[in-house]
Formats: sequence, structure tokens, C-alpha cells
Amino acid sequence: MPQLIDGKKISAEIKDELKEKVRKLKEDGVSVCLAVIQVGNDPASSIYVNNKKKACAYVGIESLAYELPEETTQKELVALIEKLNADSKVNGILVQLPLPGHINADAIIRTISPDKDVDGFHPESVGRLCIGEEGFVSCTPAGVIQLLKRSGIEIEGKECVVIGRSNIVGKPMSILLLRENGTVTVTHSRTRNLRETAKRADILVAALGKPKFITRDYVKDGAVVIDVGMHRNTENKLCGDVDFEDVKDKVSAITPVPGGVGPMTIAMLMYNCVRAATK
Ligand code: GUN
Repeated sequence: MPQLIDGKKISAEIKDELKEKVRKLKEDGVSVCLAVIQVGNDPASSIYVNNKKKACAYVGIESLAYELPEETTQKELVALIEKLNADSKVNGILVQLPLPGHINADAIIRTISPDKDVDGFHPESVGRLCIGEEGFVSCTPAGVIQLLKRSGIEIEGKECVVIGRSNIVGKPMSILLLRENGTVTVTHSRTRNLRETAKRADILVAALGKPKFITRDYVKDGAVVIDVGMHRNTENKLCGDVDFEDVKDKVSAITPVPGGVGPMTIAMLMYNCVRAATK
């Protein structure tokens, strides 16, 4: 059996560390507050938003929930974000994605003050990450780095292959691995020889969004496999982008789905909120 990289345990450790930090901050008169905005009532988004609120309550972060109707206009949403930007009590602002089709998500993300951009999606945050300046980092890839570090897996000098180039996961993931001195290859749907490229990886990060796509012929013997995918199969069971059963006796370490990368996203959001309050 390979080493199971336990995201549930590691995310709980991070949340406990943050809880202690928030307690100390409170003693010094500093409170931490996150504003969470949801437009419409997409059921998956409602579950995510609820989990974020629960994590805030656990860590001791105040959360302000804005549940806006589907018909909310772009102008109304911008006005709310501008009000929260100006509110010194609010440290972080999160607009749950996806937004309804009539709202321009890019413009909304740009409206959030970079000082309160706890999702790390603002172009200024992404730019800072690219040039190695301090700034907020997208939570899921930041969580992957924590999983690797806290599981004793070295990144420096390793062949790292990222499958997927989304703005939220693949691109920031590749920059973070580079920052840790990995040798990074980014692959995507137009990559010609994906199997051969993936097989070069000492650390393979699958974030392509296709259930159980990565089988043992994409994986080198002894590789570390990080599965960012999250899908429900026909029996309503969760699975990732990696065919866990197929690769498990070939790899040295792997994240399960569920219980791998998933719980880390919220833990890193909490980390970014505390950071926003202490900067
Ligand atoms: N929708 C799915 N994942 C995320 C996330 O990490 N942040 C936001 N704001 N919306 C999401």
C-alpha cells in the first residue's frame, strides 16, 4: 500500500493552528472577519458556502453571509463589494463562483480589493505570485503544497507534471511548484503525448476534470500522485481524476478522494483570512 496523504488530518492540523492564532489575536484586540457572497442558489455552491461558514466558526473567524437573489445585477454586486472594500471590519471578501451568466465574473473579481482577495483570484494576486512577491495564493494549489510539505515529500529538484491549466488550479499550481524549485511541466487538453509526459513525473498533479482518467499507464513507478478532481459517479459515489484502485500499487504516495485535496481548500482559505487580518 502506498503512503496515503491524509488531507482530512492535515487540514484539521492547519485549522487548529489557526484557531490558536485567532485566539491570541483576539487577546490583542484583533478580530478576523470574512464576507461570503453567494448569488442565486446553486445547490453545490450552497454546500461549499455552508462549509466555509462552518470552518470560520470553528477557527473563530466571524463570517458575514450575503445570499443574493439570482436576478442581482452586476451593478448591485459591484456596489456591495465596494461597500465591503471600504469596511475596515471586513478582512476578506469571497464571491462564490460560478456566478449567474448575466454577471461578468472577471470584472467582479477585479472589484475586490487585492488586500481582501482571500481567494487569490485577483490579477494583482496572480501577478504577485508569478514574480515571487507576497500576496494571496489560490487556496487549492496552496493546499497541495501544504499536503506535500507536511507529508515530508520534497519538491526541490523533482520532475513535477501538472495536468490542467485553469486559472484557479493548474496555472497557480505550476508557479507554486516552481517556487519550491521543482522542474515543472504543464500539460493540457491539447498536449500530444500526455501519457509519456505524465510518466516522467516524480510528482504528478491531476487537475484535468475527467473522472478516473489517470490510469497506471500515466504513472511512473514510485511517483507521488495528487488528485485535485472531484466527481460523483452514477452510484453517487465520489471519485477523482485518478483511478485510485488502478494506480495504488504503483505509486509511493497518493491523495484519496474524498479526504485528500478537498478539505485543504477551506483550510487555506482560513489561512488567507488570518493573513488578511494580520498584514
Ligand atoms: N467555486 C468553486 N471553488 C471555488 C473557490 O475556491 N472559490 C470561489 N470563490 N468559488 C469557488
